[in-house]
Amino acid sequence: MSINEKILLASRPQGMPDMSSFSLQEEPLPVPQAGEALVRTLYLSVDPYIRGRLSEAKSYAEPYKIGEVIKSGAIGQVMESADPEFKPGDVVAGTWGWQRFAAADTSTLRKVDPELAPITASLGVLGMTGLTAYFGLLDIGQPKEGETVVVSGAAGAVGMVVGQIAKLKGARAVGIAGSDEKNTYLTEQLGFDAAINYRTEPDLLAALEKACPNGVDVYFDNVGGEVSDAVLSLINKNARIPICGQIALYNLEKPDQGPRVQSTLLTNTALMKGFLVGDYSKDYPRAMADLAKWVAGGQIQYAENIVDGFENTIEAFLGLFSGDNLGKQLVKVSELTE
Ligand SMILES: NC(=O)c1ccc[n+]([C@@H]2O[C@H](COP(=O)([O-])OP(=O)(O)OC[C@H]3O[C@@H](n4cnc5c(N)ncnc54)[C@H](OP(=O)(O)O)[C@@H]3O)[C@@H](O)[C@H]2O)c1
Repeated sequence: MSINEKILLASRPQGMPDMSSFSLQEEPLPVPQAGEALVRTLYLSVDPYIRGRLSEAKSYAEPYKIGEVIKSGAIGQVMESADPEFKPGDVVAGTWGWQRFAAADTSTLRKVDPELAPITASLGVLGMTGLTAYFGLLDIGQPKEGETVVVSGAAGAVGMVVGQIAKLKGARAVGIAGSDEKNTYLTEQLGFDAAINYRTEPDLLAALEKACPNGVDVYFDNVGGEVSDAVLSLINKNARIPICGQIALYNLEKPDQGPRVQSTLLTNTALMKGFLVGDYSKDYPRAMADLAKWVAGGQIQYAENIVDGFENTIEAFLGLFSGDNLGKQLVKVSELTE
């Protein structure tokens, strides 16, 4: 193929994005300049944070410009390189985003070893989402033996790793996710102690009380909204609450007003702290070593939801907001070649 295809931001969505928020552009293959490599995309990552970057509102990542390619994590194979460190055939991860090919600045690429683990893991459990679970839970949540850790978005890429690390630390892990199939996977396959379907449970608070008879010591919040309101009403003295994401709020057109939680935090002398995985970058090697060891040893398992075809990228992204994915949502764009 000698044509590149890119998905660009066409307009800033109000509320839930749809196809009209994006446009497709074709252009000749880019030619790598000094310090660049021409990369053919193998897999793309679609992530909830991309929603924030579609808007102009202040967020932790810069908004995409109208007409800009949607940047996200990606894995590719080097086709040509103007940097001697990178050779044709090398598998690399970077952030060139939603395009079939890219002339990527090699200082932004890291090599992926296909012998270490399936290459897709470098976009999930051995990549950004695994690191997010690791630092949010261990640095802020600090679960101790016998404590109860509740995680929302539990069957997603971050959430399923959080629950398994909690188990490794001797805690009780309770997941909240949006389907019975997901919750069965969490309890039967991953060893969560209990899992609650927030979409069908008629009394979420009662279900949480049953699943957490000793209250909640750590709440790893991936979703916000009413799910979090219910969990926060059950926190124990000295609870820790890492705020990782608020996906239930990302498509709201007006700010949401929930219970004011300060009194709950005060009376329980609890810590609630937002965090960004990128702020831990200097500690990535230590975390990656632990995650790789746990994955190799089978103590951490992971699921991936892989949609086939670049043309299905936008749908795969939108599916994050209706819970289509079990585990890390990826798009397969092309085959790895020997
Ligand atoms: N702080 C950081 O540095 C950082 C880094 C990465 C990710 N994050 C955040 O962490 C969270 C999880 O990210 P991820 O990559 O692992 O995504 P993910 O959990 O794999 O996918 C998103 C999941 O969110 C759930 N969801 C969607 N709308 C919801 C709603 N209204 N209420 C409750 N749940 C809803 C869906 O599962 P159900 O079927 O359960 O509804 C969906 O599968 C996101 O909020 C993301 O923004 C933060």
